[in-house]
Amino acid sequence: MILLVKTGGPEAMPEWQSLLAEFAPHLDVRHWDDPVPPEDVRYAFVWQPEPGRLAQLPNLRLISSSAAGVDHITSDPTYPKHLPLVRMLTDDQAQRMGEYVCLGALSLLRDMKRIVTSQAAGKWDGFVTERSALHTRAGVMGMGNLGTRAAQMLSRLGFQTAGWSTSRKSVDGVESFAGPEEMAGFLARTDILVCLLPDTPATRGLICAETIALLPKGAGIVNAGRGPQILIPDLIAGLDSGHLCGAMLDVFDTEPLPAESPIWTHPKIIVTPHIASFGAKRERARHLANVIAAFEAGETPPGLYDPVRGY
Ligand SMILES: NC(=O)c1ccc[n+]([C@@H]2O[C@H](COP(=O)([O-])OP(=O)(O)OC[C@H]3O[C@@H](n4cnc5c(N)ncnc54)[C@H](OP(=O)(O)O)[C@@H]3O)[C@@H](O)[C@H]2O)c1
Repeated sequence: MILLVKTGGPEAMPEWQSLLAEFAPHLDVRHWDDPVPPEDVRYAFVWQPEPGRLAQLPNLRLISSSAAGVDHITSDPTYPKHLPLVRMLTDDQAQRMGEYVCLGALSLLRDMKRIVTSQAAGKWDGFVTERSALHTRAGVMGMGNLGTRAAQMLSRLGFQTAGWSTSRKSVDGVESFAGPEEMAGFLARTDILVCLLPDTPATRGLICAETIALLPKGAGIVNAGRGPQILIPDLIAGLDSGHLCGAMLDVFDTEPLPAESPIWTHPKIIVTPHIASFGAKRERARHLANVIAAFEAGETPPGLYDPVRGY
C-alpha cells in the first residue's frame, strides 16, 4: 500500500520513512518523484503538489496536507474532490503557533523593530513604550486549533484577549465574538490583531482600509494565517499614516516574498518566512498514521476538510 510523500524534499524521506515505519508499518512510503506505478498509490501526504499530479493517481483514497492549511491543494482545479482531504492538526503545531503569536504581540508592544534597527545602526536608543500587556487588548481572528491556543497563551501573558470566529467559543479568559455582525465590535476593542484564519473566499481581503480604520489608533497586526487575508497596500497606508504602529507578517500572497516587495524594507514591518508553525515531523507522522487508521476503520479522520465551509 503506497503512500507518496511530498514535503521537505527527498532529503527528508529517510526521517519520514523511519517515523512511518514506527507508526504505520503496513505502508510502503515513497517519495513523490519515485518511479512507482500510479495505480498502486493509495495515500498522498503533500505540501504544494504540482497542479494536475494528484489527478494522475487513479486509486488514490485519501489526501493529507502536511500542514494545517489545505489551500495549497484545493487551488489545483484538478485535485480529486471526491476524496477525503485532511489537514494537519497537532498539539505541537498549536504550541509553536502560540509561541509565534506571543513573540509577535510582544514585539509590537515593545517595538522590537526599532530596537533591532537601532542596533544595526550602532545607536543607543533608550526609549520606553507606553503600555504593558495588562493594558493591551489582543484579538485573535480565527479560533481554531491554532487560534485557540494562541489566545490562551496571550491571555496568560496578561493581554486582555478576545477571539472572533464563525461560531461562538467558550475559552477561559478569552471573550468570544462571532460572525460578521460582531466583527466591527471585535476590531474596535483590539489593540493587537492576530490573523489566524484559513484562506477562503470570505477571508480574502478581510483586512483592508475599511476594517483597519475600525481598529483603535496605534493598533498593530500579526498575520500568521494566509497572505491574501490582508490587502498589503491598505496595510502600508495604515502604517504610513500612523494609524497602525507596526506589523509582523509570516505569510504573503507570493512566497517567497519577491525581492522587489516594499514589505522587505518597510520600517514598521517585521518579516518572517512562513516559519510560524511547521510542526515536528514526529508529531505530524503520528497524526498522519492516526488519520489513515481512522480512514481504514471506516471512521471520520481527524482534521477532515469541509468543502462547503472551505476549511
Ligand atoms: N504561518 C504558519 O506557519 C501557519 C501554520 C499553520 C497554519 N497556518 C494558517 O492558520 C490557519 C488556521 O489554522 P487552524 O488549524 O487553527 O484552522 P481551523 O482549526 O480550521 O480554524 C479556523 C478558524 O477560523 C474560523 N473562521 C473560518 N472562516 C471564518 C470566517 N469567514 N469568519 C470568522 N471566522 C472564520 C473558524 O471558525 P469556527 O471555529 O466557528 O468554524 C475557526 O475558528 C490555517 O488555515 C492556515 O492558513 C499558518
